[in-house]
Amino acid sequence: MIVAFIQTKGGVGKTTLAINLAIERIKRAGRNVLLIDADEQGTASDFTTIRRDRLGATGYTLEPALGAAVRNQALSLAKHYDDILIDAGGRDNAALRATLTVADIAVVPFQPRSFDVWTLDKVGSLIAEAREANPKLRAYAVLNCADSQGQDNLAAADALAENQDIAYLDAPMVRRKAFPNCNAIGLGVLEAAQPDRKACNELIRLAEKLSGLKKK
Ligand SMILES: Nc1ncnc2c1ncn2[C@@H]1O[C@H](COP(=O)(O)OP(=O)(O)OP(=O)(O)O)[C@@H](O)[C@H]1O
Ligand SMILES: [Mg+2]
Repeated sequence: MIVAFIQTKGGVGKTTLAINLAIERIKRAGRNVLLIDADEQGTASDFTTIRRDRLGATGYTLEPALGAAVRNQALSLAKHYDDILIDAGGRDNAALRATLTVADIAVVPFQPRSFDVWTLDKVGSLIAEAREANPKLRAYAVLNCADSQGQDNLAAADALAENQDIAYLDAPMVRRKAFPNCNAIGLGVLEAAQPDRKACNELIRLAEKLSGLKKK
């Protein structure tokens, strides 16, 4: 199964979710995971270098791929892995479009703020266009950096009701320091010396919702 983390907006948590879910899959599900870094910024690759230096082995395989090459890279490696996660970068470019031609599931992180919600219509149009070539593609918006409580999360989720192309996945990730803290040292939140239980539980809930979707 190929799961892509996409958004035309930067800084919404694509890389953070991709690396934490890759680590969740290897640690909790014993899966053989390929993480494709399709973002020219190379953040997932930088994270993986820090991780390798710290742990010796990363536990997943990292492959950088740029532009249209993402498609062939994913297709040619698919048979060797249980899960392929693609961090597709934050722009509408060749890599993002190539990613959408091969993904089974697109995870679209967004924050409960109006600018983020507005971008979902544009992302929905990209998804609709990609479905012409890739009819199996399913897209789910996931709240990230959500408030720990309050109406903004609900309002953001409601704003998706009108979106024909992206469904809302009810597995919000709250803004928690554990994410940047762990990102900086090459670890997933599940691996912290003193894990943030709430961050871990939210991540596990998201992972389980995603693996439930895959089986459908
Ligand atoms: N749930 C969260 N709680 C707190 N901080 C978070 C959370 N998710 C992501 N962040 C932080 O937000 C920042 C942006 O996250 P990240 O780099 O994953 O976004 P991105 O969508 O991949 O960005 P880009 O478009 O630049 O690739 C990072 O500093 C990250 O540590
Ligand atoms: Mg990123």
